[in-house]
Amino acid sequence: MTTQCRAVARKVYHIFRRPATSKQLFMYRPIDPAEPFSDELAPEFKYASVLAPEILAQWIQLINQSGEFPAYGTWDQSILERLILKTVVPGGAILVLDSKDDLVGCLSLCRTSATSAQFMYVLVDPKHRGRGLGPAMAQRALKVAQANSIRKVTLLTDPTRISAVRLYLRTGFVPDLQVARDAAARWSRVFEDVFKKTGTDEREAYARTQAK
Ligand SMILES: CC(C)(COP(=O)(O)OP(=O)(O)OC[C@H]1O[C@@H](n2cnc3c(N)ncnc32)[C@H](O)[C@@H]1OP(=O)(O)O)[C@@H](O)C(=O)NCCC(=O)NCCS
Repeated sequence: MTTQCRAVARKVYHIFRRPATSKQLFMYRPIDPAEPFSDELAPEFKYASVLAPEILAQWIQLINQSGEFPAYGTWDQSILERLILKTVVPGGAILVLDSKDDLVGCLSLCRTSATSAQFMYVLVDPKHRGRGLGPAMAQRALKVAQANSIRKVTLLTDPTRISAVRLYLRTGFVPDLQVARDAAARWSRVFEDVFKKTGTDEREAYARTQAK
């Protein structure tokens, strides 16, 4: 297929074939090869440097205790392997430990193609939220993406996860409005919810990123 045919096929898909609705929110972020990322943690935290068995066990425990990702029931080693470890980018299992070496945050960067990857299973222990762990892990994942020649990072989230949506917007992700025909309307409701919860109108910031 020529480049022109592919472009026409893509346009036809977006007009006629894309789903009418999607329950989830899709976002993406281009990666500039020269962009600086700051993944610094507060001094009492550190990144896990090896995926030792006890770290994997703590990771599974953090996810299970949170109840945030129930679609696969109770997680175990085989689920972790299937959902994350099989496709994780080298260095893309971002795990944060506290001063007692307890695992308190996780974010995985999993490959979706030669030049793209996806944020998966982003979570901070409720006791440590609001201390910048989410943003630091996101920056670190973008740095890892850059080092692995990834040019685009995507993610899926839910309209109810307002803190996560705000974190992603702050990290430079933008809503993907092409994925479903109701995506723009859905995002408009999310921005209203963000405004109600925080008093911040993210639409302005979003419009600015679109205008760049
Ligand atoms: C989304 C998430 C990873 C953010 O991590 P974080 O380390 O708390 O991020 P930040 O330090 O930037 O703080 C984020 C928010 O927590 C708020 N916060 C402050 N103290 C808090 C506390 N004790 N408990 C909960 N939230 C708190 C901050 O004010 C900030 O709110 P805002 O984004 O509305 O301004 C975390 O909230 C989380 O694990 N959520 C549940 C899982 C989830 O939704 N994952 C995303 C899946 S797509």
